[in-house]
Amino acid sequence: MARHLITSAIPYINGIKHLGNLVGSQLPADLFARYQRQRGHEVMFICATDEHGTPAELAAKKAGKPVAEYCAEMHATQAQIASDFGLSFDHFGRSSSERNHVLTQHFAGKLDENGWIREVEESQIYSIDDARFLPDRYIEGTCPNCGYDKARGDQCENCTKQLDPTDLINPRSAVSGSTNLEVRSTKHLYLRQRGMRDQLAAWIDSKTDWPILTTSIAKKWLNDGEGLQDRGITRDLDWGIPVKKGDQPWPGMEGKVFYVWFDAPIEYIAGTAECTDARGEPDAAWRRWWRLDEGAQDVTYTQFMGKDNVPFHTLSFPATILGSAEPWKLVDYIKSFNYLTYDGGQFSTSQGRGVFMDQALSILPADYWRWWLLSHAPESGDAEFTWDNFQQSVNKDLADVLGNFVSRITKFCRSKFGEVVPEGGAYGPEELALIDAIDARIRAYEGFMNNMEVRKSAAELRAIWVLGNEYLQSAAPWTTIKTDETRAAMQVRLGLNLIRLYAVLSAPFIPFAADAMLAAMQTTDRDWPADARAALETLPAGHAFTTPDVLFAKISDDQRDDWQERFKGIRT
Ligand code: 2FM
Ligand code: ZN
Repeated sequence: MARHLITSAIPYINGIKHLGNLVGSQLPADLFARYQRQRGHEVMFICATDEHGTPAELAAKKAGKPVAEYCAEMHATQAQIASDFGLSFDHFGRSSSERNHVLTQHFAGKLDENGWIREVEESQIYSIDDARFLPDRYIEGTCPNCGYDKARGDQCENCTKQLDPTDLINPRSAVSGSTNLEVRSTKHLYLRQRGMRDQLAAWIDSKTDWPILTTSIAKKWLNDGEGLQDRGITRDLDWGIPVKKGDQPWPGMEGKVFYVWFDAPIEYIAGTAECTDARGEPDAAWRRWWRLDEGAQDVTYTQFMGKDNVPFHTLSFPATILGSAEPWKLVDYIKSFNYLTYDGGQFSTSQGRGVFMDQALSILPADYWRWWLLSHAPESGDAEFTWDNFQQSVNKDLADVLGNFVSRITKFCRSKFGEVVPEGGAYGPEELALIDAIDARIRAYEGFMNNMEVRKSAAELRAIWVLGNEYLQSAAPWTTIKTDETRAAMQVRLGLNLIRLYAVLSAPFIPFAADAMLAAMQTTDRDWPADARAALETLPAGHAFTTPDVLFAKISDDQRDDWQERFKGIRT
């Protein structure tokens, strides 16, 4: 049994996420976690809310709430929506947790002890109108690297370059839009990641199996221009993890907090440490996931994230881990994603453009979204959500192919044999050919799932559903029964067993429908099919089942048009 540690990039606390956010990290991570669990492996799947930094403060201010209260409420909201989407986290933590405070301060202390921190007297932008320092992402301006005019102070969304706010050309306050800014002097801690360049380069070079998207971004920031820059890891903010060396005060750093991007990835570890055991007690076993000296040497650690997060996970976080000189587990594989665009443009929170997770669930069940998003995951390039494509995918793949198969078999059986798996008959060449074809496709599906090739996995799964449909069409038990009832019984028995097999294979993608299919087949047998022939004999003759309600309803043209209008945002 292998052990898989899986983390999804932790979503910012400042609002409900849109479908583009979902498909860029949490959803594919869930697909992989569910699959590995089903294969019998031990999985620790961690996510959390990313609660520090100016975005949280400003969102709280907008909501008229103290920031701690805002974060607690929004965490509960995000946790509920995640669960409604079937995201099967072992723990959905909070980067503001006590555990993360302690661990973040611990790492900073170790980095300092090992000489990786330097103090920098720096100039920082202060907004006179907003009466505050404006760190990182709340300064907007033009990217010095690519010229994009809405680059944020921490990073340019357009070219992914990590920035410092003072790099921006024509800076303005993102809080008020004010350009009444001045530069003030303040002292901050810097992580000397430049000094770790060779170590990081060797580590990245050793990852020959990583997706090109991941390594190309990592190498770009490692080698381009002046190469890897030291990074400020503290900020002049009220809300965040107070700067300390372990549990000791840090002279000169009073009133400052760690930079959100310093503490956020540490929450992957803290979140694991927050797991509780069966009795609800803190689970001391978390260290076997993270400490190489305490059992983590046989863990495979996979991270999922959007491409904008790659520099922080390939350079900054590993620099924190390596610089601690403690035996913490480093990531083994980083699966990164391009962006999902919405109907010819971007998703936009401010313009209400695109579908957000809560809205999605208010119109259709989670599996409809999960299927479309995963089968169109932005892996090799950006992907676009259009209502037309969504309607077609749901109506064809889910309703016509899978749903229809389940409905035809169960209804036919009920009308001719009753709600019991019929007995008699033996496979002929047609069935044997089908079983061989399914077996081959299952092995291909496993290969793609193991490699986290999300779109290819979806295509393979769909092809397995199609095989069943084609068989049913050509076997035509409704015709067979007129001349050979025993043969029709065998065909239907195979069909009912295919429903169970499809539930098992499809569960990582569409867990709710898979549950409904298994419930209808009145079985809890979710064993992964080592051999298709044996798997298709799981439900014996005489086994009772129930005919399920419609698994997937089709999306009508009217619905499609209504939704397109409703989610187009204030600007068209
Ligand atoms: O881009 C984002 O949504 C960030 N909140 C991701 C942080 S991932 C990690 F570092 F924890
Ligand atoms: Zn740029």
